[in-house]
Amino acid sequence: MLIRIPKSWHLPERAVTDEKLFRDRRNLLKGVAAGTLLAGTPAGIAMAAAGPTDPSGKYYPAPLNPAFTDGGRPVTPEGLASTYNNFYEFGSHKKISKVAQEKLKVRPWEVVIDGLVEKELRLPIDELLAKMPIEERIYRHRCVEAWSMVVPWSGFPLKELVKLANPQMSAKYIQMQTFNDPKMGPGLKQFWYPWPYTEGLTMAEAMNDLSFMVTGVYGKPAAAQFGAPLRLAVPWKYGFKGVKSIVRISFVNKRPKTFWENIQASEYGFWANVNPEVDHPRWSQASERTLRGERIPTLMFNGYGEQVADLYKEMQGEKLYM
Ligand code: MTE
Repeated sequence: MLIRIPKSWHLPERAVTDEKLFRDRRNLLKGVAAGTLLAGTPAGIAMAAAGPTDPSGKYYPAPLNPAFTDGGRPVTPEGLASTYNNFYEFGSHKKISKVAQEKLKVRPWEVVIDGLVEKELRLPIDELLAKMPIEERIYRHRCVEAWSMVVPWSGFPLKELVKLANPQMSAKYIQMQTFNDPKMGPGLKQFWYPWPYTEGLTMAEAMNDLSFMVTGVYGKPAAAQFGAPLRLAVPWKYGFKGVKSIVRISFVNKRPKTFWENIQASEYGFWANVNPEVDHPRWSQASERTLRGERIPTLMFNGYGEQVADLYKEMQGEKLYM
């Protein structure tokens, strides 16, 4: 059954957080971007983590897109969201933020766009950023493990990257992969995992308005643990679809076998659309624990059914919800 939320995402962010806090946050971030605040404030610390020479600081805070303000739920405090992360390249537990910030080097960073494209592209991340319309969007983020948060991502619509890549008509899927260098990600030495971390979407999913390439979080360049300098956000799907620190984007005609599908296909499938009525084989998906500590009901397609339900209308034979 599809649970519809009456356009909750159309509320402005100031309606879900205290208006003064919202303005203070954006002013603070503007100050950080302009270099008028010292590291030592919480925002300053995260800025330092992105690297004092990070040339992308000028894009943040990016203008908030009013169509994606995810009303109804408060934004998760940055301190919680940035210290509880899944990023197995740095260890298979949640406390990886420190080691990720120490080890991940986000410049130079090249993104290869290949496969069924007119011309293979090798783009330094700053060249890619310069070509893209950077904006802020507030999205719900629901992990298959039944915890959730609400995050102000910055970045650009995935469909803009697809246009830039100019894929051939035969491309049916887009595959994305994370770096695979154990010097940067010590977790990559765990040889029993099927590295590199690989994820994929259909072309129709990639072209959906919600599919978003993340380059910044909380109004500044993304900190390492969030998947700097480029990660995917597809908020109607379980969080493991959000591949981090992407180095390769390939247009292919065969469905990619994803990292988690390779590990346990009976528990983590390709589609991974959020559905509170389809339990994980080992736990219920009916509700979720927010990082703020509340227990709340999980919503069909994580509340984004109006934008994405149509994508799956003709796919009854597929295991769409795991
Ligand atoms: N991407 C890579 N490369 N490695 C990972 O381990 N974990 C995934 C996803 N992307 C993961 C990844 C999982 S399981 C989740 S829930 C989200 O990242 C977590 O994102 P967050 O840490 O920003 O909340």
